[in-house]
Amino acid sequence: MIVLAMTIAANSPRRMTPIISVHDLSKSYGPGTKALDRINLDIQPGEIFALLGPNGAGKTTLIGAICGLVRIEPGHVKVAGFDIVADYRAARKLIGLVPQELTTDAFETVWATVSFSRGLFGKSASPAHVEKVLKALSLWDKKDARIRTLSGGMKRRVMIAKALAHEPRVLFLDEPSAGVDVALRKDMWAMVHRLRTQGVTIVLTTHYIEEAQEMADRVGVIRHGEIILVEEKNTLMRELGKKKLTMQLHDPLATIPAGLAAHNLSASADGTEWTYVYEPHGSQDAVSHLLDDLHGQGIRLKDLHTTQSSLEDIFVSLVKE
Ligand SMILES: Nc1ncnc2c1ncn2[C@@H]1O[C@H](COP(=O)(O)OP(=O)(O)OP(=O)(O)O)[C@@H](O)[C@H]1O
Ligand SMILES: [Mg+2]
Repeated sequence: MIVLAMTIAANSPRRMTPIISVHDLSKSYGPGTKALDRINLDIQPGEIFALLGPNGAGKTTLIGAICGLVRIEPGHVKVAGFDIVADYRAARKLIGLVPQELTTDAFETVWATVSFSRGLFGKSASPAHVEKVLKALSLWDKKDARIRTLSGGMKRRVMIAKALAHEPRVLFLDEPSAGVDVALRKDMWAMVHRLRTQGVTIVLTTHYIEEAQEMADRVGVIRHGEIILVEEKNTLMRELGKKKLTMQLHDPLATIPAGLAAHNLSASADGTEWTYVYEPHGSQDAVSHLLDDLHGQGIRLKDLHTTQSSLEDIFVSLVKE
């Protein structure tokens, strides 16, 4: 029910002209393997969009398709109005990509590789910009180090610096937190927020739901190559914010008495357990009213506990078959 409502909301028209517009995009790597199945997705300028989905769902393929790295068959993708096939160069210039797999020039220095990356996109040299990027990623003291001498996490920082070297308007981060320590993760979150204030749009994939919760304005869930949900994170969190009070009854009762009809109660088939679902930010007294009314009806409890659903819970239930 909730899922259906969210899916409908996701299709409602939005205000701005999207910076990325994906239309009826499909991709198969061979007969019978549909990596992407008629994807439609608009990303708004300046938003942070988190793409979630299990292994093999199609996240990297989708990012690759938008960046022009994966050849698409049916479908269209536009970046700031430029078609990624017909206007490949113009579209590609606007994009920075931090790929899931680390690929760096092992024998180059950090400074050279980041500066070179800027040149690849036809931007004139800007030592000041490269310096700013390296400092923001705590790489300044490593600027003369050869990349092969860096740790995995530092290599990932270099990948991010490379992606930012040509001042892209859209930054794709494919699993930025894989193999990254807490300090870099926090640095990265801060950097992403800073970039957003400069108007950069960010699309990231992650298996850390906490990361989506921390950073994203909107969340998209992909499964078997299909987008099954797109929603504002705050709306999602409001939906997820529901709490459940579970009560074990002293004397089982499978029918809720009429005197308790005002409460959102349901009973298990054998009547041993009742559940009550409520908004934690709703009426402050909802739970105490319920307990008073239970007492008034002579219902005695053996035990009770509360649980709160998280983004992780809904994600898991969404991607289950
Ligand atoms: N180059 C390729 N050749 C053949 N099949 C591929 C190729 N790349 C991806 N696939 C297949 O396409 C599907 C989607 O893969 P993709 O890498 O996009 O998933 P993902 O959501 O990024 O997964 P993960 O979370 O593991 O990174 C998978 O079934 C995968 O095996
Ligand atoms: Mg991937």
